[in-house]
Amino acid sequence: MMIREFRRQDINRVLEIEEESFKDPYPVNILIDIYNLGAGFLVAEYDNIIVGYIIFWIRYEDEGHIISIAVDEEHRRKEVGSKLVEAALKIFKRYNIAHIKLEVRKSNRGAIDFYKDNGFVERKVLKEYYEDYEDAVLMDIDLSDKSEITR
Ligand SMILES: CC(C)(COP(=O)(O)OP(=O)(O)OC[C@H]1O[C@@H](n2cnc3c(N)ncnc32)[C@H](O)[C@@H]1OP(=O)(O)O)[C@@H](O)C(=O)NCCC(=O)NCCS
Repeated sequence: MMIREFRRQDINRVLEIEEESFKDPYPVNILIDIYNLGAGFLVAEYDNIIVGYIIFWIRYEDEGHIISIAVDEEHRRKEVGSKLVEAALKIFKRYNIAHIKLEVRKSNRGAIDFYKDNGFVERKVLKEYYEDYEDAVLMDIDLSDKSEITR
């Protein structure tokens, strides 16, 4: 499996994974806009097929944000997601961004456990954060005291 930069021609496959993974998927134009605005966008490729992706953002000079991550259902629990997070964290480190945040639906226990497994910590609940009023859990990781990203 290899992790590489997203290319424009990957968009349909990314959209497929996005749509199978979220009940409120980002529409294609938003994904393209985010990309054009300079977001980090990596894909995981296995046997020439995209099986996952991660989108992230440098929000402020010293703060990063994971916007979205998803892995094709068939390829979950095989470390694809962890490898995508690891690759994104390496890029943040390269830019000296030590503090990375993300929001995840409170009901998405699997993803919360996944992020914890990758070193993120649950910080607080953001009440009615989503359009359907579900709460989000704000999680973060501080890379400043980690010389190497380990799982
Ligand atoms: C969350 C997601 C990206 C994880 O990707 P993945 O490739 O399956 O994750 P990994 O195989 O790297 O998992 C690493 C560890 O995280 C934890 N984990 C991952 N998925 C989990 C789940 N559904 N339930 C509990 N723990 C989970 C486990 O500790 C796992 O290690 P293990 O398999 O040895 O037990 C994937 O499940 C997904 O695409 N979900 C739908 C989209 C989503 O919810 N995205 C995040 C919302 S912001």
